[in-house]
Amino acid sequence: MLCLGIESSCDETALAVVEDGRLLDQALASQVETHALFGGVVPELASREHYRYIGPLYRLLVQRTGLRAEDLDVVAVARGPGLLGCLLVGMAFAKGLALSCGATLVGVNHLHGHLLAAGLEQQLDFPALGLLISGGHTHLYRMLGPADMRLLGRTLDDAAGEACDKFAKMLHLPYPGGALVDRLGSRAEPDVHLFPRPHTHNDSLDFSFSGLKTAAALYLEKHPDLVEMGRTVSREGMRAATPELCRLCSSYLEAVADTLQIKTRRALDTWTGQLPGTVIVAGGVAANSRVRRKMGDLAQRCGLHLVLPSTGLCTDNAAMIAYAGSLLAQAGLYHGLDLAAIPRGRRIPDDYLAGPQAVSRGR
Ligand code: KG4
Ligand code: ZN
Repeated sequence: MLCLGIESSCDETALAVVEDGRLLDQALASQVETHALFGGVVPELASREHYRYIGPLYRLLVQRTGLRAEDLDVVAVARGPGLLGCLLVGMAFAKGLALSCGATLVGVNHLHGHLLAAGLEQQLDFPALGLLISGGHTHLYRMLGPADMRLLGRTLDDAAGEACDKFAKMLHLPYPGGALVDRLGSRAEPDVHLFPRPHTHNDSLDFSFSGLKTAAALYLEKHPDLVEMGRTVSREGMRAATPELCRLCSSYLEAVADTLQIKTRRALDTWTGQLPGTVIVAGGVAANSRVRRKMGDLAQRCGLHLVLPSTGLCTDNAAMIAYAGSLLAQAGLYHGLDLAAIPRGRRIPDDYLAGPQAVSRGR
């Protein structure tokens, strides 16, 4: 089965082709430089950039792979959650392409795409516990199969990635800050008592990182010297980073990673039914070195197999959308041309059509 995946939910325009579960090729245009000027994603600009890049990226992919539109069995597209204007660009392209070449259209939940991405690199076994940590979401899932994911806990306010990005902003580090905080934090041991593990003194599986952000803001108010140190760091000029600044980043990330570990452990302890043999950690923050280490420790202690996508598959990409879309199509699930885009904050409906149309057209 040949599936083209399209991702345009935030600030990366990406297309990828997956054949029988194997990645053939992908093309991605990042908008980081555009949004860096504003210190965050500007939705209107983001949709315009998607509109500018999506056609040329498709041409590039077709040229490189030698594929023709008529070869495609499935066109999979991220249908949400995301920025509405951005999603609409990818979805309009996907619908037009599917209509013109007769391929089956499959709308993919972007978050499920993240969780399934590692399936391109290794076999995924179910049931699995899924931890999705991205810029806008921190969710725990009971994963029973590619098309059956049940939410156990969710972001109540700031997501893990957002908490890292906002912390970087407080320090005037260059945008986007999450990966830079990781690089700085890797250079020092943390002070484990500096920051709280927010929203953990309860029975909940939900996440709330806003308390951690406030704790950091209060700390920096008392230590303006650290903010001045942050100002001097550029993406290239990491040598300007002082040991004090690195220790601060390390301590903050330790609090984020500990909180994720505590909640994941709790999800395992309160799991009902057939126990999972696997924990899958995915999304942009799964690229974080400390989070990867802590989740490795947890999996080892619990005797679970840890699945972590390689770092390139953690952040937004279209390979995960193509892969998830082909799994859904294989299960006989697809969508019609009335497929709706779902912005962040709204539940993604299980509104698949079902039937043999989704299976390979036999070419
Ligand atoms: O999954 P993703 O690419 O986009 C969303 O769906 O949101 O995640 C982006 C988030 C951003 O908040 C970014 O700062 C964070 O992932 N991120 C990291 C690292 N790499 C990306 N956070 C901490 N450490 C990293 N190495
Ligand atoms: Zn994402």
